[in-house]
Amino acid sequence: MKKLTPDQLQQFDREGYLFFPGHFSREETSKLTDEVPGLYARREAYNVREKGKDAVRTNFAAHMYSEPFARLARHPRMIGPVMDLFDERVYMHQFKINGKAAFEGDVWQWHQDYGTWLNDDMMPTERAMNVAIFLDDVNEHNGPLMFIPGSHKKGVVEARHDLTTTSYPLWTVDNALIETLVERAGGKSSYDAEGRAVGGGIVSPKGPAGSMILFHSCLVHASGSNLSPWHRVSVYLSLCAVSNHIRRHKRPEFIAHRDFTPIDMLPDDCLLKDYPVDLPWQDGLPASALQTTSVPIDEMDQVTTKVVIPA
Ligand code: SIN
Ligand code: MN
Repeated sequence: MKKLTPDQLQQFDREGYLFFPGHFSREETSKLTDEVPGLYARREAYNVREKGKDAVRTNFAAHMYSEPFARLARHPRMIGPVMDLFDERVYMHQFKINGKAAFEGDVWQWHQDYGTWLNDDMMPTERAMNVAIFLDDVNEHNGPLMFIPGSHKKGVVEARHDLTTTSYPLWTVDNALIETLVERAGGKSSYDAEGRAVGGGIVSPKGPAGSMILFHSCLVHASGSNLSPWHRVSVYLSLCAVSNHIRRHKRPEFIAHRDFTPIDMLPDDCLLKDYPVDLPWQDGLPASALQTTSVPIDEMDQVTTKVVIPA
């Protein structure tokens, strides 16, 4: 396993993210991209569509029913650096393929992921990492992620549960706080004599399909809508240190996973060779994956469960 360098560890601590352009080859990435239309076409609870549209906003848990994504979920080039940062083994807390479709992809409001994991899932601490892997080239036009560098240092910031703006509920950060955080991170960028942007409190890593970003679960981020004619499909994996597993099953299992077994990595060529993988949800979601409870796991003796189908 290739270790992160001291410079990378320092940069992660300071900025809250690390960008690895072209981390996976075109050949590797296409094994994943080719699967996406078939997955998005399924009329299943795990495909959340954009508000009032057919375009898929996010697909959950593909690693439980699609071979190439199950292999990605065990990829040493992705898991290795995360284990390096935590010095602990990790399990898959959440797995999404976000569509951000050409012309149709809607915004993701400003938020921190750990805010949701704490409020909804009772995840004890922020020892969980977000990984984004681009399945399409990402440029300034197709809704790149926006980060406020260093905002993870603020810990959990105030958020409110937004159930209306988009089709997916999120704990979002209000504009006044975003303004303060951006100002603190460098404010508005200026331009040098050659017209190049300098500084600025918002950054957007852009690059070819196959690029990877690791970002801290408290890093404040968002993305705009995609009015360009290019899709911006990206995989978002959330890897949680095993000791930090969630303590409540308030959200369905396909959104917040309940198997806390540490991930066993496959060899580095696993996207190109057909290593066998388990696909427990290949024949559809089990009823248990839709059951939720507001009672914490350690008080679950007499639990009542209800089935929710997200809109
Ligand atoms: C997310 O924050 O979970 C998704 C953001 C995006 O797809 O741009
Ligand atoms: Mn997020």
